[in-house]
Amino acid sequence: MTIFDEQAQWRPGLRESYLFDRNAIAEIQRAAREGIYDIRGFGAKRRVPHFDDLLLLGASISRYPLEGYRERCDTNVVLGSRFASKPIELKIPVTIAGMSFGALSAPAKEALGRGASEVGTATTTGDGGMTAEEREHSQTLVYQLLPSRYGMNPDDLRKADAIEVVVGQGAKPGGGGMLLGHKISDRVAAMRDLPQGIDQRSACRHPDWTGPDDLEIKIGELRELTDWEKPIFVKVGATRTYYDVQLAVKARADVIVVDGMQGGTAATQDVFIEHVGIPTMPAVRLAVDALEELGLHRQVQLIVSGGIRSGADVAKALALGADAVSIGTAALVAMGDNSPEFEQEYRKLGSSAGFYDDWQAGRDPAGISTQDDELSGRFDPVLAGHKLANYLRVLNLETQTLARACGKSHVHNLEPEDLVALTIEAAAMARVPLAGTDWIPGVGEHGS
Ligand SMILES: Cc1cc2nc3c(=O)[nH]c(=O)nc-3n(C[C@H](O)[C@H](O)[C@H](O)COP(=O)(O)O)c2cc1C
Repeated sequence: MTIFDEQAQWRPGLRESYLFDRNAIAEIQRAAREGIYDIRGFGAKRRVPHFDDLLLLGASISRYPLEGYRERCDTNVVLGSRFASKPIELKIPVTIAGMSFGALSAPAKEALGRGASEVGTATTTGDGGMTAEEREHSQTLVYQLLPSRYGMNPDDLRKADAIEVVVGQGAKPGGGGMLLGHKISDRVAAMRDLPQGIDQRSACRHPDWTGPDDLEIKIGELRELTDWEKPIFVKVGATRTYYDVQLAVKARADVIVVDGMQGGTAATQDVFIEHVGIPTMPAVRLAVDALEELGLHRQVQLIVSGGIRSGADVAKALALGADAVSIGTAALVAMGDNSPEFEQEYRKLGSSAGFYDDWQAGRDPAGISTQDDELSGRFDPVLAGHKLANYLRVLNLETQTLARACGKSHVHNLEPEDLVALTIEAAAMARVPLAGTDWIPGVGEHGS
């Protein structure tokens, strides 16, 4: 049952409009009442082509599967082997995406570090800077340099293990983030050098850039600042991915992070989340095309994010050519966000557990997307860190089991040839055959 069912008054003969469905009507009514666009967290809620539209071809006679408990299937990933003298080494191909302190509570940031460290992977800071707890509990921590520069601190930057220059996010390519006033506690305000309790809008572009050449200058500065030791990542929201990846590579990035339109956000205009950018699945293909054309696939590593939930999603992203994936929303769910145990409290917020539309509001009963001391005090970072670690282990085991079934001794040996598509759209976007055929739409007779 959803929260809408209780209000439904359906009787035989009543026909609901497809275009003006309940959500469309409710949104028009809300806009007319409030006079401002809807701001919410989470990612796209409508269906767009996704990894679910792809299937893996397990081995049979023509291919040879590996035995689960006896034959190795490695999952380690090296990030930053192009230029950095100290690349990052991860045990699993899943990292924790950048999520801001401000959007998330300090204990939640700490738990992300604990969970990631327990399984040998990296976590990432976010808008608003690095917290001491986060650094202390994260074995490998990536420091984000964002357009807003909120919380930017060169000393913290040097304490990180890699730097991520954020150009954009999948949920809002071309747009800036928001942090509503009720989440701007004294600590958040102090770290961002901004007043307490006032809505903050993050910049949509870096203040000192006018074009792609400036990205190269910025990366050069960051290399100097970190003695050429730390890998430099560039994160882009998925739009003109082929060109963006080539420009980031030309600017001498070590690692490219591509975040598709299903990617989560703490607070953004709904119209952005649902209507700007391209889905994650075709973005992987375009990014790999760009790297292959430059002869740098696997030398410049590719991390993909946006809607990753299971080992199947991970395996499919890797088969399309990603080196690793990154998760945001799923990590928060694993740590207990929107858990049914808080149903009554989510109801009081006008939401319901599992709808994930309270992140911007700052009253999260799970203590994760809040700056309220009482609420965040309920959250146990040690327990949540273990839960996250368990979930990451499952993602890794699932990825391994699928890779073994395809006969691979390393998850990076998964390849497009291991995939087929369930829909014509997915076949065209991922450039793999429609299941049961050898047809890849757009590829073939015309030589494209
Ligand atoms: C609560 C929250 C806060 C976020 N804050 C940031 C941020 O500060 N910087 C950033 O680059 N991306 C931010 N993101 C986006 C994530 O880094 C990532 O791109 C996205 O969550 C991936 O999609 P997924 O949530 O479906 O896994 C945030 C996402 C969430 C859910």
